[in-house]
Amino acid sequence: MADPAWTRRVLVTGGAGFIGTNLVRYWVRDHPDHLVVNLDRLTYAGHREGVQDLESLPNYRFVQGDICNAELVETLFDRYAIDGVLHLAAESHVDRSIVEPLEFVRTNVLGTATLLEVARSRWKDRDGVRFHHVSTDEVFGELGAEGAFRETTPYSPNSPYSASKAGSDHLVRAYHRTFGLPAVITNCSNNYGPYQFPEKLIPLMIANALEGKPLPIYGTGSNVRDWLYVEDHCRAIDLVFHWGADGETYNIGGDSERSNLEVVEMLCGLLDEISPNGHGVSYRSRIEFVGDRPGHDFRYAMDTAKIQQQLGWAPYESFETGLRKTAEWYLQNGSWLQAVRGREFESWLEVNYLAR
Ligand code: NAD
Ligand code: DAU
Repeated sequence: MADPAWTRRVLVTGGAGFIGTNLVRYWVRDHPDHLVVNLDRLTYAGHREGVQDLESLPNYRFVQGDICNAELVETLFDRYAIDGVLHLAAESHVDRSIVEPLEFVRTNVLGTATLLEVARSRWKDRDGVRFHHVSTDEVFGELGAEGAFRETTPYSPNSPYSASKAGSDHLVRAYHRTFGLPAVITNCSNNYGPYQFPEKLIPLMIANALEGKPLPIYGTGSNVRDWLYVEDHCRAIDLVFHWGADGETYNIGGDSERSNLEVVEMLCGLLDEISPNGHGVSYRSRIEFVGDRPGHDFRYAMDTAKIQQQLGWAPYESFETGLRKTAEWYLQNGSWLQAVRGREFESWLEVNYLAR
C-alpha cells in the first residue's frame, strides 16, 4: 500500500551525481509532499556527501545500487509504490566514453532498458505515472557556425557517449509508442554549477587553477558549447515532469554560447579577481593548448522555443552571474573538491592528458 503521506513517490536515478545532487536538493525542498528515493551506484562520479544532510528529512531515502539490477529496481518500485521516475543515472563523460565505451552501453542503454521494463510491468493500467528521461543535446550531432537544434532535428550522435544516450532516448520513445508507457524526454545543453565532478571543463579549470596546474584546452579552443546553470535545468525538469505532454521531447538550453577559450579566459579573469594567486600573474598564463578530442563536436546550440512557449520556462541565470556563483561555490567548498579528487581520478587525468 502506498503511504498516503506522500502525494507522489519519485525514484531519482543518479541522484548523487552532479545534476542529480542539485535536482534532489531542489526537489525535497520544493516538493515536501513528495517522497524522493535516490538510487545511485556511487561510481567515481557519484558522491553521497552532497546529499548526506538530506538523510534526516522524512521525505528522502538513499539507496546505493545499480540501475541494471532489475531485482533491486523492482523491489524499490514495490516497496515505495513508485509513481514517477526522474532518470539521470548515466556514464556522462565524453572523454571516458572514448576510453571505455562498453561501460557506457551497459549503464546508458541496458540500464535505461532495465528501468523501462520494470516501469512497464509495475505501471500496467495505472494512471498518474510518468517516466522522465534526462538526455543531452549531443544526440543531435554537431552544428557549424549557424543554426540551432530543434526537437525535430534528426539524431546523428558522434561519440560513444552520445550514441549510447541516443540509444536510450530511442528506447524511451519506443516504450511510449509500443506499450503506452507515459514518458517524456528532455534534451539539455552543457550544465555547470555546484557539485560538478572536476573532470568536466569548468570545474577542472577551477580545480587546476587553484592547484597551480596547467589549464588544458583541446585543439584551438574554438569549439562552442551552450552553457546552462544547473538550477535552471532543475526548474525545467520540474516543469516538464509535471506539465509536459506524454510522448513529447523538450529542448533545454542556456542561450549562452561561448567558445571554450572564451570560457577559460573568463574564468581566469574571475579567479584573478576573487582568488588571486599571489604572484601577480594571471591564471591565464597556465592555459595550454593540447591535442584535440577524437571526433570533437564543433558546436551545440538549442532552440528552446517549445519549452518557452508551451511551459513558460526561461533560464534565470546569465553566464556571467552563473559562472561567478560557481567559482565562489568551489572556493567555499574546497573540502568537497579534495574529497572527490582521489588517486583514481588523478591517474585518469594523467592518462587523458598524456593521450593528447
Ligand atoms: P554525473 O556523471 O555527474 O552523474 C551520474 C550519476 O549516475 C553518478 O552519481 C553515478 O554514480 C550514477 N551512476 C552511473 N552509473 C550508474 C548505474 N549503473 N546505476 C546507478 N547509478 C549510476 O552526470 P551528470 O552530469 O549529473 O548528468 C546526469 C544526466 O544528465 C546524465 O544522464 C547525462 O547524460 C545528462 N546530461 C548531462 C548534462 C551535463 O552537462 N552534465 C547535459 C545534458 C544531459
Ligand atoms: O552538451 C551536453 C553534454 O555536455 C552532456 O551530455 C555531457 O554529459 C557533458 O559531459 C557535456 O559534454 P562536453 O563534452 O561538452 O563537456 P566537457 O566539459 O567534457 O567539455 C566541454 C568542452 O571543453 C568540449 O568542447 C571539450 C573541451 N575541453 C574539455 C576538457 C575536460 C577542453 O578543452 N579541455 C578539457 O580539459
